[in-house]
Formats: sequence, C-alpha cells, structure tokens
Amino acid sequence: MEEKTVEQAAEFLHRAGSVCASTGAGMSAESGIPTFRDEQTGLWTKVKPEEIATPEAFARDPVKLWEWYRWRRSELAKIEPHAGHLTLAEWESRVAELVLVTQNVDGLHHRAGSQKVIELHGRLDVVRCTSCDYQIVGLEDLGADPHCPECEARLRPGVVWFGEMLPPGALNAAIEAAQRCDVMLVIGTSGVVQPAASLAGAAKTYGAAVIEVNPNPTALSGYADVCVRSGCREALPAIDAAWRRLGS
Ligand code: APR
Repeated sequence: MEEKTVEQAAEFLHRAGSVCASTGAGMSAESGIPTFRDEQTGLWTKVKPEEIATPEAFARDPVKLWEWYRWRRSELAKIEPHAGHLTLAEWESRVAELVLVTQNVDGLHHRAGSQKVIELHGRLDVVRCTSCDYQIVGLEDLGADPHCPECEARLRPGVVWFGEMLPPGALNAAIEAAQRCDVMLVIGTSGVVQPAASLAGAAKTYGAAVIEVNPNPTALSGYADVCVRSGCREALPAIDAAWRRLGS
C-alpha cells in the first residue's frame, strides 16, 4: 500500500469537521461476503441482477427468489465485521460529524458499532410482509416460503430491489451529508449504481476532498483527490495510524 496516499488521506481527515463515508460491497468483501461485480467472484457473475433482485422476479417465482436471500442470510450469520468496519465506527468519536452511507445490506457497520448509518438499499436481517406492516428483524431461518403471522401474506426481504424506491428520506439525508461534509470517503464501491454513485460528485461540487479506498480504479476515481489502492481492511487502520501520528 502506498504510504504517500495513506498520509495524504490522514491529512485531509485531520483537518475535517464533517466526514461522509460512502461504502459498497468491497467494504464487506474481506469479511467474506462476495461483491457484485468483481471478476470471477462477484455475485452478478453467476446470476443477472435483473433476473434476481427485482419485484418482477419475486412475482414470477417468490420461492426461488426467497431461497437466494435465505442462503445470503445464512451466510451473514457466519461472518463478522473486520478492522475496517471497526475503524469507521471509532472515527465517529474522532470528528464532529461522521455520517456513513452504505449500499450494503449486511448490517456489518451496525455490528461494528457505527451509530449514524444510512442504509440506502435496506437490510438483509429485516424481513417484511408484502401486505401489512409486519416485519421481523434478525437472521433466523424463516423456512422455504415464509408467510406473515398477522395476515398470512407472503414475506419478502427488507432490501431495495432494482426499480424500487429507496427508503423514504434516506437518499435526501445522504445527499445532505455529502453536500455538507469536508471529506467524502468512497470505500469499496464500483460507482455504477445510482443514486448512491452520485454522492461523490455532490460532495466534490460542494468543495469536499474525496478519498477513494479501493484496490481498483472505478467510475468515481475521477472525483478523488487521493486514491488509496488497497483493500479497506488494511487501508483504513493504516490511515487511522497516520492520522493519530498527526496528533488528536
Ligand atoms: N476493499 C475495498 N474495495 C474493494 C475490496 C476491498 N477489499 N474488494 C473489492 N473492492 C471493490 C471492487 O474493486 C469494486 O470497485 O469493491 C467494489 C465492489 O463493486 P460492486 O461489486 O459493484 O459493489 P457495489 O458498488 O456495492 O454495487 C452497488 O449494486 O447490485 C447492486 O444493490 C447492489 O448495493 C449493490 C450495488
């Protein structure tokens, strides 16, 4: 990992009052959750998003779609946040404001202790009724075709599918956080899915310094003042150590 970019990232954070962190699947890759678009290992290299993560796919074959989410939920129960998640959680007390906006549905930022988390795409550990407002939180196995105990309608994952609206208020809160931050951290996202991908440009337009943490260049790299070309599990603690060397 290039020491120079780590030092530069620490310098920006050291001077920041407000920080916004935007994370994607690469944030959780080193906890063992496959990303979506990485060559070979990405989830979407095996299935097509439009065939799986859509209301139409659920209407077409709810049991088949639920089986995929049931498997992803079972995988979640086996994994832990890594040092990068823990570092972001610790940074909440190091700056006046740190708002974490994530596209991830794995809940690892919460489990790492982050308090201010905006989940743009929902949570895998939330399952809700397709008809009433019943929902259940947790990763217990709900079986092959779960139905609502209140109204007997089918249950669905509490995630946002392609073509669905984001949770009300989440996007506005994310855009406001991006516009008021002094530093925007863009971690582990390919920057191809809107509206999350627009946050880095919004931050840049409003004068923020943009730091990308990603082993690969992305659609957002052009906005970055600093690109730390490394995995976030190692890069974030390294930036933290460099920041501490600058004094509290
Ligand atoms: N550390 C940091 N970044 C990493 C790491 C790592 N250890 N490993 C991989 N990456 C980067 C990859 O280089 C890639 O740029 O993470 C990014 C993952 O990109 P995607 O798989 O496209 O994931 P993401 O950007 O979160 O996808 C956005 O697409 O399908 C939808 O809803 C889904 O939320 C998801 C959205």
